[in-house]
Amino acid sequence: MCGIFGCISQQSQNLIENTLQGLKILEYRGYDSAGIAYHTDNNLQNNSIKVIKSVGDISQLAQKLKNPPKTNICIGHTRWATNGTVTKENSHPHLSFNDEIAVVHNGIIENYQSCCDFLAMNNISLRTPVDTEVIPNILYLLHHNKHNIHNYLQGQYVFCATGNSETELFLAKKGNLPLYIGRNNEQTIFITSDTLALPSNTTEIIILEDLDTCEITNNEIKFYNQSKPVTRKWQPFYQSFIATDKNGFSTYMEKEINEIPAVLQAILTKYHTDKNITSLRKQFHDLLKDVNCIHICGCGTSYHAALILAKIFERDLRIRTIAHISSELSPQTILSEKSIGIVISQSGETADTLVCMDVLQQKQIPIIAFCNVTTSTIAKRSQITFPLLCGPEIAVASTKVFCAAVLVGCLLVKNYTQNTQAEFLKTTHQILQNARQILPQPVSRPDKIFIIGKDIFYALALEAALKIKEVTYLHCEGYPANELKHGPLSMVDNNTLAIAFGNDTDNAKAEIEARGGKVITITNHTNNPLEFISQIIPAQTFALDLAHSLNINPDKPRNLAKSVTVL
Ligand code: F6R
Repeated sequence: MCGIFGCISQQSQNLIENTLQGLKILEYRGYDSAGIAYHTDNNLQNNSIKVIKSVGDISQLAQKLKNPPKTNICIGHTRWATNGTVTKENSHPHLSFNDEIAVVHNGIIENYQSCCDFLAMNNISLRTPVDTEVIPNILYLLHHNKHNIHNYLQGQYVFCATGNSETELFLAKKGNLPLYIGRNNEQTIFITSDTLALPSNTTEIIILEDLDTCEITNNEIKFYNQSKPVTRKWQPFYQSFIATDKNGFSTYMEKEINEIPAVLQAILTKYHTDKNITSLRKQFHDLLKDVNCIHICGCGTSYHAALILAKIFERDLRIRTIAHISSELSPQTILSEKSIGIVISQSGETADTLVCMDVLQQKQIPIIAFCNVTTSTIAKRSQITFPLLCGPEIAVASTKVFCAAVLVGCLLVKNYTQNTQAEFLKTTHQILQNARQILPQPVSRPDKIFIIGKDIFYALALEAALKIKEVTYLHCEGYPANELKHGPLSMVDNNTLAIAFGNDTDNAKAEIEARGGKVITITNHTNNPLEFISQIIPAQTFALDLAHSLNINPDKPRNLAKSVTVL
């Protein structure tokens, strides 16, 4: 989905290159076009704003910017089209009618039509059908009153603007979308909608609050909330220890699958030794004392982690626990006052999950987040956030974060002995090493793939099927093993491949084989109660290899984005 990156410095520097580097990191979020705007001259009399845009990837934009000039202000954007087709004109930055103000924007301006009417009354007509274009024009009309901008725009948005007669960046935020300001020790200020894009030497950040506006000049930052001056504090920032490059692997998906043992180890260590986490755990168990129902919510892979944890929590805590697809939890859902909500999210920015949090919060239900991006909106809006400690996950298909979320949930409700933990890590390494023998590629491409399992292995089957669908575009269905005979068995023929998770699927396997289908079983190596978490690895590797054999880039499957910030 869309991404914002920009920088401002006292002296002219290579800020265009910095912006292109920032945009390159934002690529993983999914986008279809990109652009930048920069100031041509430090001296306001000669200054103008130059905009360069291009459809396609950042390398195409970079082609147009060989030997870029030095500048002291540059803003950039990756666009994932929502309204207005994918064209160079529709990509950001958008300019005011007189080319004096440039804007990059994430989110949706819901009162777009009334903004157009307001601009038409002021004889301003627009060049594109993109909602963003109203922003620089309204800023132009507001002139010195630009901190009132939120009174003119409805919806959830963040944007960054710069004008050619001003030496500043102007930021605004309404609603849930994130916008961060980062600084290093070299007097350069960065702005971004995703902290992953901040340079590694960033030392501190500020997170904008709802209804904030902010002016950043080269020596001062001023914050306002609903037009009144406010203070926002710098917080220390630590870029993740896991590198954002591919570390020798040909794809991020492969790299991230290979990071699973290290991530699980980091979680086991930190969740047993870190004082902060011990204190969060205590707060969590204090909350549980008065609770008769737990609602665990998430989308896609995070929902599958929720499904597994709902079974485990119910069993181990003896508290009714329900897993919800975030977008299916509605104000009509029965939620007792003695409930708690748990939201699971890799990105911490998923719009469907944020709306689900609104529903929970309207009923005053405390929310606990399991989140990989701990600076995210979901983390910020939760009472307690348990970090998933995975470092950046760049591939669109989530792999390591799934395993991390399930392990964190297990550790919160049960104590595992040192031996159990050590055996779990050893088995995880073995499963990773042998993934391709455990689940080999089919000799010929199957027409249909079924993945079956019972109980938590059914949730694992759903997750494996989602991975295969996402990166191979083949139809693949996760099914409860015993349900097959209640309908889908009619589809099984000798072009069917079935993957069976767990030990309890013999009848279903026999029924598939009797109709010509091929079955591969993924069973336990040990009796370790955590081993099931690592059994997803062969399915992830299977999806990855199948994608390669079909010439699909598994890191960027068509039509999908990493962080889904639209409803
Ligand atoms: C699948 C996948 C998605 C996400 C879903 C929720 O591989 O990555 O299904 O799990 O979009 O995203 P988060 O976890 O960021 O809330």
